[in-house]
Amino acid sequence: FTDAEQDAQGREDMLVGEPKVGKTSLIMSLVSEEFPTVVPYRAEEITIPADVTPERVPTHIVDYSEAEQTDEQLFQEISKANVICIVYSVNNKTSIEKLTVTFVKLLTHVSLINLSIVMVTSHWLPLINDNTDKDSRVPLILVGNKSDLVEHSSMETILPIMNRHSEIETCVECSAKNLKNISELFYYAQKAVLHPTGPLYCPEKKN
Ligand code: GTP
Ligand code: MG
Repeated sequence: FTDAEQDAQGREDMLVGEPKVGKTSLIMSLVSEEFPTVVPYRAEEITIPADVTPERVPTHIVDYSEAEQTDEQLFQEISKANVICIVYSVNNKTSIEKLTVTFVKLLTHVSLINLSIVMVTSHWLPLINDNTDKDSRVPLILVGNKSDLVEHSSMETILPIMNRHSEIETCVECSAKNLKNISELFYYAQKAVLHPTGPLYCPEKKN
């Protein structure tokens, strides 16, 4: 992309995850630079202007709320996203376990959303190969929120998941409450799109 093309296009970050993990709080903490005590289910879609983002790219941030949106709406948003942040809460084991479920949920709609997610289980591979464009790849970022509530890191649990899914670009632990790693999170999201480190395609799978 040239700079001009990037400006015209903008970038879309998408936050998904289990209810109450802090998706809306993360967005609002980024925008207002303080922890909001009361948040709606879903933050208004916002565009961060290019000149205040580290990579100088206008960035749209889209929130998701299970309470307010249907699966179809989610998949529609996902199909437009350049990067997807999957948020879990580091103090909530089920929200980490549900990560795997989230992948499965994405994959069942893979033909609809035209996402190229590479899943390593034998069950899903044929479906993905049939339905995805192997040249496209939407990076995922795992976001462990509420780090202020725990002493230990969730990395031990997260690393095996990352190793199984090459589309996960990076992971970050943060806290909307004490603003730890909030700007870093959105920087990693931009970077995942503009300078991906992972393979853009799997050469052995190309014809
Ligand atoms: P849904 O939209 O309902 O799916 O929830 P959500 O993922 O958007 O979470 P939300 O931002 O509504 O936050 C849920 C609860 O967690 C609220 O009570 C927040 O105040 C709290 N919360 C969010 N982030 C943090 C954090 O970093 N630390 C702590 N201690 N609490 C947090
Ligand atoms: Mg919310």
